[in-house]
Amino acid sequence: MDDLTVEPATDIALDDLTDLYASVGWTAYTGAPDVLRAAVAGSSFVVVARRGGRLVGLARALSDDATICYLQDVLVRPDEQRTGVGRALLTAVLDRYAAVRQKVLLTDDEPGQRAFYESLGYAEIRDFGPGTLRAFVRFDG
Ligand SMILES: CC(C)(COP(=O)(O)OP(=O)(O)OC[C@H]1O[C@@H](n2cnc3c(N)ncnc32)[C@H](O)[C@@H]1OP(=O)(O)O)[C@@H](O)C(=O)NCCC(=O)NCCS
Repeated sequence: MDDLTVEPATDIALDDLTDLYASVGWTAYTGAPDVLRAAVAGSSFVVVARRGGRLVGLARALSDDATICYLQDVLVRPDEQRTGVGRALLTAVLDRYAAVRQKVLLTDDEPGQRAFYESLGYAEIRDFGPGTLRAFVRFDG
């Protein structure tokens, strides 16, 4: 099997992006390729995983590089999942923002995702207990 590379990226072909996002069923992105292009281009940090040149995973974060690092996407092609690609991608983001204390994200309520993020040091808000933290979100459209 070809070696895996995990590197920051600035210029990713839109076809490769839509193919990767489609592989995990994220139709909200693939149905609006221009939005996907803008989202990736406007991210503070994007890291991609490639195997034999093929795009197999991506993570992207938004940050002020001082107080907050928001992880927006981490995704790995189904045929590459559970081989450490997601961990390598998120580790690259966490290393890049090692000096930033507060790291947050929003994700679906699925056991695999909880296990994944917990394995990388994230904790769910609900686990801090009552009277500690609250998270708010507003979706427009
Ligand atoms: C979530 C996701 C990014 C994880 O990537 P991955 O490459 O499969 O994860 P890794 O192989 O690096 O797993 C690292 C650790 O996380 C945990 N983990 C990951 N996926 C898991 C699952 N489905 N069930 C239980 N634990 C899981 C395990 O502890 C794993 O270590 P192990 O394999 O040695 O037990 C991937 O499943 C994915 O792309 N899912 C679809 C998109 C998505 O939902 N993204 C997250 C929301 S933004």
